[in-house]
Amino acid sequence: MQATARAHTNIALIKYWGKRNESLILPTNNSLSLTLDGFYTETTVTFREDLTSDFFLLDGEPVMGEQYDRVQAFLDLIRREYNIGQIYTEIKSKNTMPTAAGFASSASGFAALAGAATKALNLDIDKTELSRLTRQGSGSACRSIFGGFVEWEKGEAEDGSDSQAVQIAPSNYWDVRVAAVVVDAKMKKVSSREGMKRTVDTSVFYSGWLDSLPQDLADIKAAIRGQDFEKLGSISEANCLKMHATTLGATPPFTYWQDSTMAVMQAVQTMRDSGIPAYFTIDAGPNVKVLYLPEDEEAVMNTLKNLPVVTDVTLSRSGEGISYV
Ligand code: ADP
Ligand code: DP6
Repeated sequence: MQATARAHTNIALIKYWGKRNESLILPTNNSLSLTLDGFYTETTVTFREDLTSDFFLLDGEPVMGEQYDRVQAFLDLIRREYNIGQIYTEIKSKNTMPTAAGFASSASGFAALAGAATKALNLDIDKTELSRLTRQGSGSACRSIFGGFVEWEKGEAEDGSDSQAVQIAPSNYWDVRVAAVVVDAKMKKVSSREGMKRTVDTSVFYSGWLDSLPQDLADIKAAIRGQDFEKLGSISEANCLKMHATTLGATPPFTYWQDSTMAVMQAVQTMRDSGIPAYFTIDAGPNVKVLYLPEDEEAVMNTLKNLPVVTDVTLSRSGEGISYV
């Protein structure tokens, strides 16, 4: 009873930022992402009769505390949902990006874990059901089951039975590229989970964020349909700025940005002023992702790599959904 799955991270162009049900991980709004081929998690799950609890190794180190508890709770959910009984697992996982630094390690991490665990159990479930299951490990992870452009439909049902990701366009539909720009790879102080909860509970700007989403979603889908890069980029950048604005209206207020984050944002806007269509988006962390087209790769790379605040830049193309090794 062993299987290995590989899942790529995804970057949200329209952000998931808030839950309507915290235990089932049901979002307040639909979100839309691009799966990235540059970063992935590979996870092997082995169900072993001789174990008395789950054992989790991440990048070669045994994991304890909150990270362990999240993984164990997810395995408990799988055991319950599929009537597996008390058989525990050995989990060996490897992230190709920094963990918990705004590079969506939770997305690829829980997608790979869900894929490997269900494969090891030989469960006959399709990608839609796998996406619904994965969602309950980490919301954004449900989008990493699919490649290319992916929408997470928030659903209406109280039990979450219609809250899952769907593919909008496959990875070979449009060659949009993403540069992941590292300014600080340390673990962030406020996790996405905690940050979005504080914002939903207290931010005076949260209702404005929610009101603006239907238009952003309609516009970005039109941009994808028409392969209109400037439209795609400008909607993504504006949506990111609105999400981050909500954190400033929370109690206590907080921000994921650092000086270096702003320096990269300004460099992207300067590139645009000089005629290179590049746009930024930022998840819950200080690091920045820059969207650009293949013909501008050299110019974008040169600009980003030469910024004094930047410690690393990794290029990604549109990536595939979950696969089994
Ligand atoms: P990030 O920006 O990296 O997604 P989050 O705070 O949203 O940051 O999520 C990071 C958390 O995701 C980690 O603290 C851990 O609980 C979980 N995680 C990351 N990688 C893995 C993995 N490979 N397997 C299982 N869980 C993981
Ligand atoms: C800013 O999916 O990490 O990256 O569901 O609590 O695990 P949980 O949160 P998570 O949040 C991601 C937030 C985001 C936006 C996004 O990916 O859509």
